[in-house]
Amino acid sequence: MKFCTTNAKMPARIARNRIKSLSGASLLAGAMAAALALAACATPSPQQLAGAKEKDTIMSDPKNVVVMAHRGFRGLVPENTLEAAQKGFESGAEYWETDVAASSDGTLVIMHDDNLVRTTDAKAKFPSRSPWTVYDFTLAELKSLDAGSWYAAADQFKQIAAGRVTQKDLASFAGIKVPTFAEALELTKRNGWKINVEIKDATGRACDPWIVEKTAETIRSFGMQGSVVVSSFNHEYLIRMKKAAPDIRVAALIDRPIPDPVGELKRIGAMALNPNFKYLDEATVQAVRKAGFDVFVWTPNEKADMERLVKWGVTGLITDFPDRALETLGRKAGL
Ligand code: G3P
Ligand code: MG
Repeated sequence: MKFCTTNAKMPARIARNRIKSLSGASLLAGAMAAALALAACATPSPQQLAGAKEKDTIMSDPKNVVVMAHRGFRGLVPENTLEAAQKGFESGAEYWETDVAASSDGTLVIMHDDNLVRTTDAKAKFPSRSPWTVYDFTLAELKSLDAGSWYAAADQFKQIAAGRVTQKDLASFAGIKVPTFAEALELTKRNGWKINVEIKDATGRACDPWIVEKTAETIRSFGMQGSVVVSSFNHEYLIRMKKAAPDIRVAALIDRPIPDPVGELKRIGAMALNPNFKYLDEATVQAVRKAGFDVFVWTPNEKADMERLVKWGVTGLITDFPDRALETLGRKAGL
């Protein structure tokens, strides 16, 4: 495991980082103290010591920063499919991130949007089923969809235009299926890999009372509690997850900044904050890291952003381009 997997392990690494980053400051403080003692026969004031402490910075070691392939290797393969996950694995990312929703007949499935229109052919296949909400479709109906052909027309990351995704790749995307959550876990386990499971906020949907518990039960059925981090924007879901499965680590997703991130992580029993990198600042990263939690940011895709975030001390990058992240961190991507 390349990052602190439990809060219990965190203090040792923080302590190491602190010793490392404080060594210069400590020497300086010591020299100042000696000079002051000689000059005025006095020990350093609490204010002076506090000043030295403020310089304490938690650093990220690029070797240990975790790379997560967002919705699989979404930059190159239709998102949230087994094919995208496999590409993420081949890239060398330590984790993939995916989104869990549920079919109308009670199966956990992988889908980002509530609405099926962007990433499937649901509108063409089921013209009368507006607004094509994933939660309103049976598993058999979801399995009848093409979740890959849309990629060619969208070229959302301009990878076809750039020549990185070829016509042959596009032909292989046609007819890709919407995976179940169990299939996603099965692929992850087969690869000896890890997964960040984001449970979509299903408030108001029929699955709302059981989506969290069924996610926990499915993870447990694969014996994958140690290979999973569960995240959600719905923090009450995370509290339910800790209740259902105290041995499964959870991470609190946030979009905009919140007033007391450390307090919120403690309230939930989370091990990490997963913030939108666009609204993040260094002080928040440092405060969360100093309190002993990880910070997994989404979704930096440009090297300059990744470099800045690593400099700030984040512990993980959730990105549509895991190969870029690995290269930025000085590690070789597998592709
Ligand atoms: O888990 C990180 C990220 O996936 C959260 O936002 O909308 O891409 O699921 P979203
Ligand atoms: Mg997600």
